[in-house]
Amino acid sequence: MKKRVLSGIQPSGKLHIGNYFGMIKRMVEYQDSSDLFCFIANLHSLTTIQEQSKLKELTLEAAMDMLALGIDPEKAHFWVQSDVPEVAELTWILSCISSMGMMERAHSYKDKIAKGIQPSLGLFNYPVLMASDILIIQAESVPVGKDQKQHLEMTRDLATKFNHQFGETFTIPEPDIQKTVATVPGTDGQKMSKSYDNTIPIFGTEKEIKKAVMSIVTDSKGVDDPKDPDTCNVFAIYKLFANETELKEMTEAYQKGGMGYGEAKKKLLAKIQDTFGPFRDKRAELEANPKKVEEILHVGAEKVRKISLETLETVREKTGLKY
Ligand code: ADP
Ligand code: TRP
Repeated sequence: MKKRVLSGIQPSGKLHIGNYFGMIKRMVEYQDSSDLFCFIANLHSLTTIQEQSKLKELTLEAAMDMLALGIDPEKAHFWVQSDVPEVAELTWILSCISSMGMMERAHSYKDKIAKGIQPSLGLFNYPVLMASDILIIQAESVPVGKDQKQHLEMTRDLATKFNHQFGETFTIPEPDIQKTVATVPGTDGQKMSKSYDNTIPIFGTEKEIKKAVMSIVTDSKGVDDPKDPDTCNVFAIYKLFANETELKEMTEAYQKGGMGYGEAKKKLLAKIQDTFGPFRDKRAELEANPKKVEEILHVGAEKVRKISLETLETVREKTGLKY
């Protein structure tokens, strides 16, 4: 049997190149070698987006982006989180065995509050919903960016605790965090994130992408000054797209001096356009046919509900909820 691999992505803004290198690209690769489960985490997005038309639009757009970038519903399970309501029931059950101490240590919660996001019970409980996403499918491996590492640890803790308390039920999932691409920096040098307004959108208009690239923060070294590639945001992003030769050339240009940041940004812009250009036609085709996208998502959800119900029935049984 192929390994069960699962990951989700929040539709809380336009998908960006951090999402692509941290998650989407790897999911597309995994759909051949494993039994892939890939979903749009709209229940998670509700913690930050509370505007009907926006959430609806972003959910469908994220689905189109993923399909255009290569997620194939014939190979992978692909659905929207809220179409599988079983996950919300499991969230409640797991929240009853989640200790406050563990929850209060969550970095992502603390970071979001520090960024000015209003704390809510949903935001606080976010890691338990994520654990439910993973455990209800009995996923064995979860490819995510480094920022999600602690959520995976919490998931493993919860699964172990449940198994110990109620008997073997859940598979303990392994985090799959890529070594080469850790965290993609945003235009301001922090983690690129939909929540921080510092992204380079994959399918933005040419103008949007250009504006984002040109706004990447650099130090104030002049054209002729030698520059340090290891501390430069433009270089860190260029590195994701470049092959070995291109990388070597860029490193030399930095160290030697003579190339300004403006020129480095232009090279990066060209790389971004070359990489995502070929996916744009497929994206446009999907956009012209939203009914087809909805149909793909519904079929995906039906299949996933069957699997989820199986796990949930065991959980209901073991906890005594089934009487
Ligand atoms: P965002 O922070 O933009 O809201 P999500 O939290 O929805 O992104 O992340 C979706 C997926 O993309 C996750 O697997 C996450 O680890 C990955 N990811 C998000 N931002 C980055 C980044 N800057 N670098 C690497 N991976 C990222
Ligand atoms: N919290 C994840 C993120 O922001 C998205 C997500 C929700 C997820 N549920 C998941 C990722 C389950 C992996 C597995 O990136």
